Amino acid sequence: MRVMVIGGGGREHTLAYGLARSKRVNEVICVPGNAGTAAIAENIDAKVDDHDALVAIARDRGVDLTVVGPEAPLCAGIVDRFKQEGLRIFGPSAAAARLEGDKAYAKHLMNIAKIPTAEARIFDRFDAAKEYVATRETGVVVKASGLAAGKGVYVCDDPADALRALESIMVERVFGDAGSVVVVEELLKGQELSVLALVDGQTIYMLESSQDHKPIGDGDTGPNTGGMGAYSPAPIATPEVMSKVEREVLVPIVDALRNDGAPYCGVLYAGLMITAAGPKVLEFNCRFGDPEAQAVLFRLESDLFDLLEVVVEGRLAEVELRWNPKPAVCVVMASDGYPGSYESGKVIDGLDRASTLEDVYVFHAGTKKLEHLALSSGGRVLGVTALGSDIADAKQRAYTAVETIDFENKCYRCDIADKAIKAGALG
Ligand code: AMP
Ligand code: GLY
Repeated sequence: MRVMVIGGGGREHTLAYGLARSKRVNEVICVPGNAGTAAIAENIDAKVDDHDALVAIARDRGVDLTVVGPEAPLCAGIVDRFKQEGLRIFGPSAAAARLEGDKAYAKHLMNIAKIPTAEARIFDRFDAAKEYVATRETGVVVKASGLAAGKGVYVCDDPADALRALESIMVERVFGDAGSVVVVEELLKGQELSVLALVDGQTIYMLESSQDHKPIGDGDTGPNTGGMGAYSPAPIATPEVMSKVEREVLVPIVDALRNDGAPYCGVLYAGLMITAAGPKVLEFNCRFGDPEAQAVLFRLESDLFDLLEVVVEGRLAEVELRWNPKPAVCVVMASDGYPGSYESGKVIDGLDRASTLEDVYVFHAGTKKLEHLALSSGGRVLGVTALGSDIADAKQRAYTAVETIDFENKCYRCDIADKAIKAGALG
């Protein structure tokens, strides 16, 4: 089989790695890919929003299955287009991907389906939103309703912060039209959990749990990023929590989408806060998490191609998933300055040394190949991932690998997985 992975970040390198290991796959194409995928796949340079170019590559190269990494092409209808052209593709339709691309719509569906989530109000006028936040005594979270590359959420401790957030989203339009509607919601307290599930329209299959680390700094300080590290499984995801998530969140949202004429097919990501009152939804995403995919899929022992194929064919109920019981930790190495501005084009040293370490894999994110060199080319540069006998061992192995890798202006968090290690020590 020949497969094509759309995207060029850490999640896409992870998907390409999993697919390249499949017994049924003999060729992987990545569009556009990165320096990491170049070692295991053929990179073809095209824009992920150029649907005509993607269709042409799939046709010309006889691609048997296309797997979409990022949300933007999904929300823009790449799956609908491929299906119209008679091409097989893994991912939700634009109508179902709206669950991520339109937070006001997601809230509406959650309310109809009585899914536990933060209480929210939706505004399309700045003055009404401003008046509302001025009356709130507790903190609120202000979100641009549309896609904002993971940056459209402001956690605000007081009304002055919330007003500044509204001004930048609705008046300055820092996210363009994605900010024409805002969701203002209750600030939830607790630990976060990411639950990814395969969904074939009907059947839901939860993958192993994981936890992301959104803020840039140790101890969860500083601005939010796309994710600075992840581990899997998350101790907070007890069997009781996972069964609640399935019953109270995943089943009702999949039903609600189907009833709304948008059956979900692909991977559905529930971003949750585990509050004192139980799990509540922070957001849904219509794709694998990044860097959650690195930690979760590195533990997958089943054949990834088989799994994605049964989803596309609506036969998910037929499969059994096999997991490596060893936990995984992924530490993101970023460019100093991220999530603000940063310099790129730095030569990355030590990748060969890291690749000799046992149970370690360095997934590339923002990198590009220049002859035999790998250069940094983005905010998040690498996702250094390791398995261990327990989570503390996985953390140590991941950081041992991180220390063998060097590039000018590298930066990373030093406390990835500490919450899980602490939970283990208490528990
Ligand atoms: P989202 O993109 O909606 O997941 O939001 C990004 C991050 O903002 C989440 O991972 C949380 O850390 C935080 N967040 C979002 N919504 C809330 C909320 N209602 N209460 C507290 N934190 C939130
Ligand atoms: N790591 C968060 C996300 O993928 O949205």
